[in-house]
Amino acid sequence: MAAVIPSERKRVWKTPAGVTLCAGTEIADPGSRGFVLQIDEAWFHGFVVRKQGQVAGYVDRCPHQGFPLAMELDRYLTPDGDLILCSWHGAVFTPLTGACVGGPCAGARLTPWPVVVADGVIRTA
Ligand code: FES
Repeated sequence: MAAVIPSERKRVWKTPAGVTLCAGTEIADPGSRGFVLQIDEAWFHGFVVRKQGQVAGYVDRCPHQGFPLAMELDRYLTPDGDLILCSWHGAVFTPLTGACVGGPCAGARLTPWPVVVADGVIRTA
């Protein structure tokens, strides 16, 4: 069987509902965490941010050039925790809406990844 080169892996942009991601306490406030889920033969890349007691999920794909946002594992926020930061060219997004408020894709928006917190657990919705 031939090895699958990561860049040739099939990607998907949605997940089924009800997939357990982590305990709510595993993401600081403010904080963020990346997730890679295998959906059949394809892969989903997303991240969850927590801010002011709320959580929001996004597909890990910058609207500027389509790159994954974080160059460092789980580091999706600016150092002060106020905004989501794309590490490549500095686009910044509001954590709970995904709206780009600065950088090369100002006015664009991250693709939402629906997540919920129930009984202290973060799951896909
Ligand atoms: S790829 Fe995100 S700012 Fe350019």
